[in-house]
Amino acid sequence: MKILIAYAGKSGTTEKCAKLLAEKITGELVDVVDLCINTPNAKEYDTVVIGSNIHMGAIHKKARKFMQDHESSLIETRTAYFFCCGFADKKDEIIAMNYPGKYKNNAIAIECFGGEMDMNQLHGMDKFIAKLVTRATANQGIPAPSIKLDRIEALAQVIKSK
Ligand SMILES: Cc1cc2nc3c(=O)[nH]c(=O)nc-3n(C[C@H](O)[C@H](O)[C@H](O)COP(=O)(O)O)c2cc1C
Repeated sequence: MKILIAYAGKSGTTEKCAKLLAEKITGELVDVVDLCINTPNAKEYDTVVIGSNIHMGAIHKKARKFMQDHESSLIETRTAYFFCCGFADKKDEIIAMNYPGKYKNNAIAIECFGGEMDMNQLHGMDKFIAKLVTRATANQGIPAPSIKLDRIEALAQVIKSK
């Protein structure tokens, strides 16, 4: 089985998760492609996995564009999605806002991998917003986000099961 993991992020977490997922899909041919650099051809793959970060409630514009441009092939292909976010408890709302039925209904899974808020990787307005959010959530006793390795493993298992 030839598998594509196409991802788009901004500060490294989605990339890290895409690579961790690829490592866990052992025994299959996996291409990991950064949608901010390349545009792969979805038709060349048996399974297409699209990963994205979440900023301001939305998936990355490169992930959305890839989904729109490849809509017809994605509907005919085995697909899965994952996203990295700061508020994993908002998973269902993020899915409802970003993955319309035409994608969701055909997907074998849509997983939330959690996320990170690494100030060293952030700059400008992103860093400013992240600091405000981090301070506000810490004041409410909400723990800092982290990558959910168990969800990465779970998605790898679903992808490997034919
Ligand atoms: C400017 C900014 C906006 C964000 N907006 C959201 C959001 O609306 N919802 C959410 O759950 N997480 C939000 N996050 C958290 C990111 O999704 C999280 O840090 C993720 O791990 C980033 O992935 P990346 O490093 O691949 O860009 C935001 C982070 C930043 C810096």
